[in-house]
Amino acid sequence: MTTVRDAFESMAWSPAPESATLATEWLERHGRRFGHFVGGRWTEPTELFAVTNPATGAELAQVSQGDDALVHAAVAAARAAQPAWQALGGHGRARWLYAIARGVQRHARLFSVIESLDNGKPIRESRDIDIPLVARHFLHHAGWAQLLDQEFPGMEPVGVVGQVIPWNFPLLMLSWKIAPALAAGNTVVLKPAEFTPLTALCFAAMLEELGLPPGVVNIITGDGRTGAALVNHPDVQKVAFTGSTEVGRAIRSATAGSGKKLSLELGGKSPFVVFDDADLDSVVEGVVDAIWFNQGQVCCAGSRILVAESVAERLIAKLRARMERLRVGSPLDKSVDIGAIVAPVQLERITAMVAQGVAEGSTCWQPSWSVPTEGCFYPPTLFTNVQPAATIAQEEIFGPVVVLLTFRTHDEAVEIANNSRYGLAASVWSDNLNLALDVAPRLKAGTVWVNCTNLFDASSGFGGYRESGYGREGGREGMYEYLKRSHVNSAVRTASGEQRPAEAPAVASDGLPPVDRTPKLYIGGKQVRPDSGYALPIVGADGRRLGDVGRGNRKDIRNAVEAAHAAQPKWAGATAHTRAQVLYFLGENLAARQAEFAARLTALTGVDGAAEAEAAVRRCFTWAAWADKYDGAVHHTPLRNVTLAMPEPIGVIGVRCPDEAPLLGLLSTILPAIAMGNAVVAIPSLQGALLATDLYQVLDTSDVPGGVVNLVTGTHAELLAPLAGHDDVDACWCFGTQPEAAEVERLSTGNLKRTWTEWFVREWASAIDGEGTEFLRQATQVKNIWVPYGA
Ligand code: NAI
Repeated sequence: MTTVRDAFESMAWSPAPESATLATEWLERHGRRFGHFVGGRWTEPTELFAVTNPATGAELAQVSQGDDALVHAAVAAARAAQPAWQALGGHGRARWLYAIARGVQRHARLFSVIESLDNGKPIRESRDIDIPLVARHFLHHAGWAQLLDQEFPGMEPVGVVGQVIPWNFPLLMLSWKIAPALAAGNTVVLKPAEFTPLTALCFAAMLEELGLPPGVVNIITGDGRTGAALVNHPDVQKVAFTGSTEVGRAIRSATAGSGKKLSLELGGKSPFVVFDDADLDSVVEGVVDAIWFNQGQVCCAGSRILVAESVAERLIAKLRARMERLRVGSPLDKSVDIGAIVAPVQLERITAMVAQGVAEGSTCWQPSWSVPTEGCFYPPTLFTNVQPAATIAQEEIFGPVVVLLTFRTHDEAVEIANNSRYGLAASVWSDNLNLALDVAPRLKAGTVWVNCTNLFDASSGFGGYRESGYGREGGREGMYEYLKRSHVNSAVRTASGEQRPAEAPAVASDGLPPVDRTPKLYIGGKQVRPDSGYALPIVGADGRRLGDVGRGNRKDIRNAVEAAHAAQPKWAGATAHTRAQVLYFLGENLAARQAEFAARLTALTGVDGAAEAEAAVRRCFTWAAWADKYDGAVHHTPLRNVTLAMPEPIGVIGVRCPDEAPLLGLLSTILPAIAMGNAVVAIPSLQGALLATDLYQVLDTSDVPGGVVNLVTGTHAELLAPLAGHDDVDACWCFGTQPEAAEVERLSTGNLKRTWTEWFVREWASAIDGEGTEFLRQATQVKNIWVPYGA
C-alpha cells in the first residue's frame, strides 16, 4: 500500500510553463523595434541593438542606442514638463501615482512575463515578488505626494532627475527610482540597462495609455555611453544610480562640483551570520532565498555564510542536500527555482570567479545534476574552506555562488562580517533575540534581517554603508533624496583670501607685548605641535597681527583621523544622555568665557562679537537638546515584521568649517556631528582658527573625550585634500567654495565617502540656516533591522 509519505517522497515535478503569448503579442504589436519614449512620444527606432532572451539566446526585440542629441531632447522634455508637474500639487501627483500603481496591477502578468523573458528570472519571482513590489512602491509614494507639504515643509523638488538602473530587477529598480522622484514634484529621464530594457518600454507604453502629461517620465535606451551622457547633462539636477561600484565611482567623479545631488546604490558582499542556536532548517531555506533568489544577481545577496564552527558540518550537509533538489531551468516554468543568468558576459564572469576560487584553494561543491546546455545557466554553488581574504570572500560574484566561513565567538562573527569594503545588508540567524539584537547594530550594513533575508518594502529605506554607496531608496529618507531646501541664500562663498600681510600687534598701554602663546593643534584631546613646525599669523580687522596658529599639514590630518577613529566607537556607544550632558556642559563653559570670545570675534571681524558669542552658547544647547531626541522609527512592513529604522552615526566626519561666522559656523557644523555619536576632524576657517585654539580648553573642561573633536588649523589648500581623500574618513562636509566642493567630491571616490558640500553662504545665526534636522540627517545613516514575529 502506498502511504502518504511514499507518495510525497516519490512525487516528481512536471513542467508548469507560463504562456508567453500575450508578451509576444505585445512585442509584435511594436514590430519588435523600439525608439525612445521622450516628451510623451516614441522616437523613430535608430542605431538598433538586439535584446535577447538569456534562457534561449533568441532575439526578443531591437532597441535604440540613445546619443547625446537624444539625451538632450529627453532632458529638455523633462525640463519643460517640470513646472506644471510641480504646480499640480501633492494631491494631483498622488492621483497620478495611484493610477500608475493600479496600471501596474492591471498589467501585472504582462510585466512579469516580459521581465522573465528579458532577464531570465523565474516567473515565480517576477510574478510574486518583483511586480507586486513595483505596484506597492507607486502606491506608497502616492501617499508621500499627498502628504508632501505637511511632512516636508520648507522643501521643494530638485527639478530634472537623471536615473540609471541595472539589469537585475529592471522594473522594480525603475519603480524605486521613478516613484519618489515624481512624488516630490520632479520630472525624470530614466535609462534602463542595455540587457533588460523591455519592461521599462512596456511601462512607458502604459504611461502613454494612462495619459500621463508628456515629458514627466522619459525612458531612453542605450548602453553606458547613453548613461554617461545623461548623468553629465548640465540640466540634470539629481542623479540616481544603481549598478556596479566601478561605474558609481566614475559617476561621482564626473559630477564632482556640479552641485547635482547624487545617490548611489552599489554592490555588496553581504554576510549571512548563523549562530549555533539557529534553527538550521530555517537557515537552509534562508540561504536559498539569500543567494539563489534571482540567480544570486542581487546586490544584497547573502553571499557570505558565516557559521558557528560547532554547527558548520551539519549546516553544510543540509545545504548540500537542499541544493541537490533545487531546479534550474526555463524561467517561464513555474516550478523552477533558478532561472537563467542575464547574459553570456555575466556567465563568463561567474565562471571565472569560481575558477579563481578553486585556484586559490577553496573547496567547490555543485549538485550532481547538470544545468541546461542551451542558454545562460549556472548551477547553485557552495564554497567551503574559504579564507576570509580569498577573492571569492571579498569580491562580489553576482551569481548563484555562496562562500561559507566559520567563526568561534560572537565577536569574531562581527569582525569577519565587517571585514568587507561593502556594507549593504546582512542577515543574522539565532533563536536568541538578545544575541540577534546585540549583533545587528554592530554590523556595518544599511539593512539587517533577523531570521529572514531579502525582504523589501517601500516603507523601509534601502541603501548602503561604505562602498555600497549612499542615499536610501524608499521610506521617508528616500524622499529627501529628491528634495532640496527652498531657502538658499544667493550669495556664493568666494575664496577666503587666506593670508593677508600683518602689521605688528598692538602694544598694550604698559608698553609690554602680550604674553606670547605657542600655536598648537588639537588632536586626540591634546595640544600638539604642528608637524611642519610652522605657524600662520592671524590678522585682525585692523590689519594687525592678533596671534599665530599652527600650520597643520597632511601628517597632522592623518594623526587627527587616527585619533578620531580610535575615539569614535566608544563615543557612539555612550548613551545619548551622556552626549547631551557633555554638550550642555560645553555650552555652560563657553558661556563662562562668552565675553572673552566676543572680544576676540570683535577683534577678528571688526563687528561687535557679542551676538555671535551668545548665539554660539545657544547652539550648544540646541545640539545638546537634539542629542537624545533624534529617534528612529518602527515601520509597518508587511510579512509579519516589525522593522526598526535606527539612525546610526556615520563614523569619522571631516569638516571644512565655513568662513562666515568664525565661531558660530565652527560650532554649528561640528556639534550636530558629535551629538549623533560621530568623531570629527575639523579644519576651522583661517580667520576662525585663533578662536578654535581658544576652544581647546573649553572642550577639555567640558569632558569631550579626547579624539572626538580634533581641530587642525592651517590653510585649506594644504589640509582639505588629505582630509577628503583619507580612506578612514567616512563622510566629508565642505562649507567652502565651489572649487573646494569639487575637490572634495572628486577625492571622495576612494572609499566612496558620503559628502555634503555647499558653497552658498549660510546665515548661521538663523534657525532656518544654522540648525535643524538637515544636519542630523547628514550626521547619521539609517539602518533598518527587520524582525519577524509570529509562531
Ligand atoms: P554597470 O554598473 O556597468 O551597469 C549598470 C547601469 O549603468 C547600466 O544601465 C549601464 O548601461 C549603466 N552605465 C554603465 N557605464 C556607465 C557610465 N559610465 N555612466 C552612466 N551609466 C553607466 O554594471 P554591469 O556591467 O551591467 O555589471 C557589472 C557588475 O556590476 C556585475 O557583475 C555586478 O557585480 C555589478 N552590478 C551590481 C548591481 C547592483 O544592483 N548593485 C547591478 C548590476 C551589476
